[in-house]
Amino acid sequence: MSDAVKILAFAGSARLDSFNKKLVKIAAAGARDAGAEVTFLDFRDLPMPLFDEDLESQSGLPANVLQFKKLLKTHDGFLIACPEYNSSITPLLKNAIDWASRPEPEGNPLAHISPFRGKTAAIMSASPGALGGLRGLVHVRAILGNIGVLVIPDQRAVGNASQSFDDTGNLKDNEQRNAIRDIGVKLATITTKLAT
Ligand SMILES: Cc1cc2nc3c(=O)[nH]c(=O)nc-3n(C[C@H](O)[C@H](O)[C@H](O)COP(=O)(O)O)c2cc1C
Repeated sequence: MSDAVKILAFAGSARLDSFNKKLVKIAAAGARDAGAEVTFLDFRDLPMPLFDEDLESQSGLPANVLQFKKLLKTHDGFLIACPEYNSSITPLLKNAIDWASRPEPEGNPLAHISPFRGKTAAIMSASPGALGGLRGLVHVRAILGNIGVLVIPDQRAVGNASQSFDDTGNLKDNEQRNAIRDIGVKLATITTKLAT
């Protein structure tokens, strides 16, 4: 069995050509190079209804929510790139976090394991605007911290995103590309140290 830590990488956008999906994949490559096993999750493949307590009490957790919770629980750390919507977290990511924070029925094999507590995360963002989504990251960091995720200090917001990526999805600027890649390296390294 591999001793590599497992990192789940995802973006707070389901958009087909999402800058944030491209961004998190660059960090994911860094985490892989540092020895982590990385899974990329595209929320486009895992649609979830808008959280509603009545829906929850009538129908329980939807299958895609259980799948997302299982992914969170079976990974040690998270690489998250989240766009900024009106200076904050996207409803897609907040909705997924809200669903995942709800308890599973007793008897589910992983019901007793927290999807968030004791996990690590690194956050980043990309936006066509000048600030790169920096203001939204303040909220993403606070939410994750409040549910028990250790969010590492290293983060990066990439502005002018419409001009920043090449046709292969990589960042054109070397310094920016290395900085995002290094966030993945840092998360993998810290998560590995915590696991030993
Ligand atoms: C509802 C909405 C609100 C937005 N608000 C902001 C904002 O506050 N700051 C910002 O930099 N970009 C804002 N944007 C633009 C997004 O940064 C842009 O759509 C970006 O491409 C989304 O990320 P993605 O490419 O990963 O899907 C907003 C977009 C939408 C749809």
